[in-house]
Amino acid sequence: MEFANFLEEISPRPEGFPGIRPLYFARPKTLPCAKGKTGHLMFLGIDLGTSAVKVSLVGDDLQPLATTSVALTLSTPHPGQSEQDPEDWRRATIRAVRALGAEADLSGVAGIGLSGQMHGAVLLGADDAVLRPAILWNDGRAAEICARLEAEHPELAAIAGVRPMPGFTAPKLAWLAEHEPETWGKVARVCLPKDHIGLWLHGNHVTDGCDAAGTWWFDQSARRWSPALCAATATDPAWLPEPRDGTDLAGPLRAEAAETLGLPPGVPVAVGGGDIAAGAVSVGAVRAGRGFISLGTSGQLFTATDGFRAAPEAGLHSFAHCLPGQWFQMAAMLNGARPMSWFAEVAGQEVGALLEEAATASGDIPLFLPYLTGERTPHGDSRIRGAFYGLADATGRGEMMRAVVEAIAYAFCDGAEAMRLTTAIPQPLLAIGGGTRSDLLLQTIADATGLELARGAGAEAGPGLGAARMAAVAIGAARLDDLDRQPEVDRAFTPRAAQAARHADRLARYRALYQALKPLRQET
Ligand code: XUL
Repeated sequence: MEFANFLEEISPRPEGFPGIRPLYFARPKTLPCAKGKTGHLMFLGIDLGTSAVKVSLVGDDLQPLATTSVALTLSTPHPGQSEQDPEDWRRATIRAVRALGAEADLSGVAGIGLSGQMHGAVLLGADDAVLRPAILWNDGRAAEICARLEAEHPELAAIAGVRPMPGFTAPKLAWLAEHEPETWGKVARVCLPKDHIGLWLHGNHVTDGCDAAGTWWFDQSARRWSPALCAATATDPAWLPEPRDGTDLAGPLRAEAAETLGLPPGVPVAVGGGDIAAGAVSVGAVRAGRGFISLGTSGQLFTATDGFRAAPEAGLHSFAHCLPGQWFQMAAMLNGARPMSWFAEVAGQEVGALLEEAATASGDIPLFLPYLTGERTPHGDSRIRGAFYGLADATGRGEMMRAVVEAIAYAFCDGAEAMRLTTAIPQPLLAIGGGTRSDLLLQTIADATGLELARGAGAEAGPGLGAARMAAVAIGAARLDDLDRQPEVDRAFTPRAAQAARHADRLARYRALYQALKPLRQET
């Protein structure tokens, strides 16, 4: 039976759960069970995103059954800073799982997997109590520290697989030692965001290769914490979690967490993966030559590689995968699909309505720089900010939204150019994340980069789906080889030759605009 045939759209929100968005839902009792497997098992993937916690229920055929999301807010104590309270993550996770439980029988959940926003610093004291709000992946406060690290320890980027950038965890600890020494003095443990949810679920300090990779403390090639990287960033290696494979069991679900979530106690919890690696698992990008793009709050171009290949000078990230013996190369853009929702908020319009205006915009299209929170690949520049150029009296919001869409595509052109220096980009590239809802965005990225893209079934479930699949492997209901599976293509986006010259000209001007505006950046 086709997945789409047994999906049921749920339009109204479940009562008592304002802010909860069920994306789609199918009744487990009516679902077909995979042939010859272990019965009606289900797996839960918890994806701690930046804008929402998304919980996905997956059947024993490793296909998504239902997804629920609960929105999260971001706090900006100072310009360029970005924080969230880990307690909000836990509360949103509870609401999302309970909302799913109100619609589905979760007693068949046989494993839980985790995925989440990477690079964040969750700082814990000796009793595992949270010491301060978590400092997130898109926080720029450690920019000066990074400039110093680069000048004083140029050799370290080759170990870490990437230049020091303020979003990573390690520079944040060095910042804390200088700016909040009292808090730094109390640090006994550092967690990555998803692993903090894991700590509540199973009680152990563990992480996966990819989340470890994104800290800037990890020796990517040896896949262990690097004493040199820790020493350079005021970090005691004893604070760090144990790096494991994403398909390892982290521990059984604690009784108190089980009761709160409405799940059976003792359900095995798998380590899971940082969101980009768990997203890779969701589309089968688990071996060399497989790749995808992700269009969430941030944006990534990802290619799995057969070994560790450092290319830090290009602004690329060469990281350990969450699966054993796998690595990947990534161009990481801080502003993926987010500039579209940002502009919609500014214009007071729905994103969908604005995208329709953008698709038919007939006036001159201005240029836009999408760097709302700075940029990682290729610039490694946390101080640059967004800009429109070329506004005219006749410019309307449709033209401006079109400029925003094109800018996201040009950021992918920069990422692709950096990656091509060392690694062939596989095609078609599957696309995942909320931004894949826009055909205009996917077609524009294809046209501008010259890369063939495809939207697969379940593209929006992304990392949560990958996390649930890792849980299936962890309990032995699936094999590592089963993660190789790629989704069926729902729609392909082929580069249109007729658009190539226009985009090449605009890309050159987009790049020149960044160079022209760089000297005008604010200090902080
Ligand atoms: C990856 C990255 C994002 C964040 C937020 O390097 O910065 O994937 O994890 O989603």
